[in-house]
Amino acid sequence: MNEYVKLAALRDVDEFIEVLQRLNLHIPCDRQVLPGNASPLARSAIVDGLTIGNRFAVQPMEGWDGALDGRPSEMTFRRWRRFGSSGAKLIWGGEAVAVQYDGRANPNQLVLNEETYDDLARLRDALVEEHRKSTGSTDGLVIGLQLTHSGRYSRPEDKPEPRILYRHPILDKRLNLPEHYPVLTDGEVRQIIDSFIRAAKLAWRIGFHFVDIKHCHGYLGHEFLSAYTRSGDYGGRFENRTRFLREVVQGIRTEAAGLSIGVRLSAFDMIPFRPDPVTSRPGKPGVGVPEPYEHLLPYRWGFGVNPHNPTEPDLSEPASFLALLRALNIQLVNLSAGSPYYNPHIQRPALYPPSDGYQPPEDPLVGVARQMWAVRTLKERFPDLTFVGTAYTYLQEYIPYVAQAAVREGWTDFVGLGRMMLAYPELPRDVLEGSPLQTKRLCRTFSDCTTAPRNGLPSGCYPLDEFYKRSPMAEQLKQLKHGRTKAG
Ligand SMILES: Cc1cc2nc3c(=O)[nH]c(=O)nc-3n(C[C@H](O)[C@H](O)[C@H](O)COP(=O)(O)O)c2cc1C
Ligand code: SF4
Repeated sequence: MNEYVKLAALRDVDEFIEVLQRLNLHIPCDRQVLPGNASPLARSAIVDGLTIGNRFAVQPMEGWDGALDGRPSEMTFRRWRRFGSSGAKLIWGGEAVAVQYDGRANPNQLVLNEETYDDLARLRDALVEEHRKSTGSTDGLVIGLQLTHSGRYSRPEDKPEPRILYRHPILDKRLNLPEHYPVLTDGEVRQIIDSFIRAAKLAWRIGFHFVDIKHCHGYLGHEFLSAYTRSGDYGGRFENRTRFLREVVQGIRTEAAGLSIGVRLSAFDMIPFRPDPVTSRPGKPGVGVPEPYEHLLPYRWGFGVNPHNPTEPDLSEPASFLALLRALNIQLVNLSAGSPYYNPHIQRPALYPPSDGYQPPEDPLVGVARQMWAVRTLKERFPDLTFVGTAYTYLQEYIPYVAQAAVREGWTDFVGLGRMMLAYPELPRDVLEGSPLQTKRLCRTFSDCTTAPRNGLPSGCYPLDEFYKRSPMAEQLKQLKHGRTKAG
């Protein structure tokens, strides 16, 4: 087991602050949580004419549990109801919803089209209704829908069917792509753009306040931004790599004027990581190390990456991207980082890796601090944009202290919560009401919500959410993990 600090074992916030100092991490942290309206987290914000009632945001999270035709299942409804009951007033996207079938990341991903329209409308209604029941009012509740095409990570049926924009020297090998595997043509890209616009129109008719044109985590929107080596209209210079965004936005402005637009962006990336073969043991992947890259310099396959040292972020192009968002009158920005497929410790800091991951190469608090640094730096440069920050779940007991300080000091506008919303969705409500945290329900980053879907099971919090814990799926997951350990 690694030697990183276990936050659950710390006595109190003073000890947590000592840990931050010892690790030399810049994470703002208050020593007292202010109750009710005195809290900066209870303040509303007005963005793009929308009033958002407090500073908690629910991050988008798929469940791999829709029907094969792209409709939500009862498990999807349950998750969205729980998002509604959280008390957070900004629901950023719900979950990634594919704009066309071949762009699904898994056969159970939701799809938005004329056939699924009514079901997605019911899903939104269920969230709103639960929010009303739990908090007494839907005032200030703002809900977006995340629109996606999974690009390189498309898996619409039971096997991967990557749709790539360029040849990647590392990721192509991981996906076993043969030498002449096709890249999407500019014509195919235009069809996908049309699908985004069609889906946005439907989302607008349903009553979503905004759509998120997803640009993160290695999926298609994100891959455009690193398409340095692609030729044609959508690759090469910055103007071409952002053409996809501009054309989608232009279409939405024409077809669904009045619908707000947001973008979730991987603000920086890093070279793919893999388990160190030297420290790997049967059933236990080694510590994460970067793929060898000396022969790939300057590195031209990552957005927001230092080309001379691809283990370092470089925010210069992401800043140009934000300037473009501003020019397009897009004010809602949600910053994430990296990808769950090739550098999960950057994207979702965790003490325990998913089954196909690697042992954390750094204290996960370093990963939290890195994402907070990126948001703070970009917020300073673009104070007029509204930012949602990511990767707060790992802070566990100390979320309220850090969230309050981060919003009060202007590091971010909204505190986004992902995994914690699967384990303990009422956390924002408890913080805002001044109730003590239910520490037994805190997500301890066991990563089962990632391991399960990587093995074909729905996602959910298997260790802490009774619904999953007591389901036959939990037994299946246990067998899978056990089998892996035995077989190596
Ligand atoms: C099970 C699971 C599903 C996720 N699905 C999505 C998704 O559909 N869209 C997205 O942008 N991010 C997705 N994410 C990433 C989260 O939104 C979030 O960025 C990440 O978990 C880090 O935040 P946290 O530390 O609060 O968990 C997912 C994460 C998990 C654990
Ligand atoms: S399975 Fe539960 S405890 Fe584990 S990372 Fe996911 S939400 Fe957290």
